[in-house]
Amino acid sequence: MRKSLTIAMDGPAGSGKSTVARQIAEKMGYLFLNSGAMYRAVALLAVSANVTCTDVEKLIELAHGCRIDFADNGKITLLNGEDVTDQIHTPEIDIAVAEIARIPEVRKAMVKQQRRIGKDGGIVVEGRDVTTVVFPDAEVKFYLDASVQERAKRRFLELQAKKITCTIEQIELEIRTRDEKDLSRAHSPLRTADDAIVVDTTDKTLNQVVEIIIKQIEAQS
Ligand code: DC
Repeated sequence: MRKSLTIAMDGPAGSGKSTVARQIAEKMGYLFLNSGAMYRAVALLAVSANVTCTDVEKLIELAHGCRIDFADNGKITLLNGEDVTDQIHTPEIDIAVAEIARIPEVRKAMVKQQRRIGKDGGIVVEGRDVTTVVFPDAEVKFYLDASVQERAKRRFLELQAKKITCTIEQIELEIRTRDEKDLSRAHSPLRTADDAIVVDTTDKTLNQVVEIIIKQIEAQS
């Protein structure tokens, strides 16, 4: 396998992209880039500064003025040097981020940072537009999907483990709302790239998905 491949994965919330992409990166000795964490970091800046989702000018300023990095191969998200990993994965940020990610200038700032991190290849990157907009020339592309019910179940278990109180119905509704926003936004909506391999993870274990993906990467490189 060549060392400098760019492997890109898109898919809806809860499709398993982050876990799968991280494992693939670890197996291949590649960098792992979670592009959603970048949008989440901007949402955290906004929420912390009481900037509302309608204050577009201020949000653009925040997005252009921050630096986002990753440590421990993507496990830790650093916002202007500070570890914000736990703070960006809360129900409050889930809601704010979908609004903020709609703003074209915010996306422009994030794409610039994603390309900075991925400029030398040797990376597994995941998100909503990484196969279509950010790295359209990625050598191997995947679109991971799963049923809404399965995605809600995964998210529910994740939140339960963090002792965050919620119901599965609430999570399912939130996932449907986020899907709607990701799919319908005017700029860089979530879509399947023509050259992406579609993997439905609904009835598959993590190991099965990782195995399918590794086989495809080997076949294509
Ligand atoms: O993958 P995630 O749930 O952590 O993503 C958080 C939000 O960011 C989600 O609302 C979609 C958005 N996002 C995006 O618009 N483009 C990306 N490349 C990654 C995430």
